[in-house]
Amino acid sequence: MAAALVALALLAAATAVAAAGNFNQDFDITWGDGRAKILNSGQLLTLSLDKTSGSGFRSKKQYLFGKIDMQLKLVPGNSAGTVTAYYLSSLGSAHDEIDFEFLGNLSGDPYILHTNIFTQGKGNREQQFYLWFDPTKAFHTYSILWNPRSIILSVDGTPIREFKNLESKGIAFPKSQAMWLYSSLWNADDWATRGGLVKTDWAQAPFTASYQGFDDAHACVWSSGSSSCSSSSSANNSWLSESLDNTGQQRIKWVQKNYMIYNYCADAKRFSQGFPPECSLS
Ligand SMILES: *[C@@H]1O[C@H](CO)[C@@H](O)[C@H](O)[C@H]1NC(C)=O
Ligand SMILES: *[C@@H]1O[C@H](CO)[C@@H](O)[C@H](O)[C@H]1NC(C)=O
Repeated sequence: MAAALVALALLAAATAVAAAGNFNQDFDITWGDGRAKILNSGQLLTLSLDKTSGSGFRSKKQYLFGKIDMQLKLVPGNSAGTVTAYYLSSLGSAHDEIDFEFLGNLSGDPYILHTNIFTQGKGNREQQFYLWFDPTKAFHTYSILWNPRSIILSVDGTPIREFKNLESKGIAFPKSQAMWLYSSLWNADDWATRGGLVKTDWAQAPFTASYQGFDDAHACVWSSGSSSCSSSSSANNSWLSESLDNTGQQRIKWVQKNYMIYNYCADAKRFSQGFPPECSLS
């Protein structure tokens, strides 16, 4: 009995550790020549950027649907010109992609959270937001819920954007191409900050962004043509049919009313020939 309890407690502890993720096990550093570092026995990852290069990493696993969390602490101080990208993407010219991109700014000026969704190689679905906190002072959780019904981007549990499955209305939805999770820190001072007006101040380099708390426990891992979700009947896969409830709808409205600074669906100048079809459906 006591032994069983101890075993249970150990199992619970092991599960808690596994849920926190381990960067050594979960990711490959893909570029940056030593500028990306995995620290604290795999609990922390840092990317850095200097005048010579940025850096980046990619998940070892591929996913076909998932609820994936990561905590990021963005480049502090004068981060103008830098972009920290955090996204899911498949490969090829008809790829699918779900993007968070953080556009840096001068000290004290707000970062922009830039989002986009590509289906079958077609993006042009930008929405941009200010955040309701300083994303450089502490870690905050950025989540992607991707299931067959919907894609929901959230910040600290607050949904900021939803892209619904409107395949029945002829709009492509990502559902058959597995995606990797990527992140990178790079120089984009030709466009990132105030449309490219403010350049990267290399005297501030190296610029560093930090990552912790990766959680893909609720994700379907795609491997050799099959999904971990179809085999594990005991797994809790309720997220696979989750969509925004009333509270979620209210919160997304709050974010969009108070913090959204660009919405492609409201850019009449850009889409003078007519808005993309999802704009009138979602
Ligand atoms: C940077 O700050 C300026 C001034 O507040 C603001 O207009 C801009 O949207 C901010 N963000 C970026 C990434 O340019
Ligand atoms: C399944 O997961 C959801 C959240 O993803 C949670 O609310 C629910 O309580 C879980 N159910 C069980 C039986 O663990």
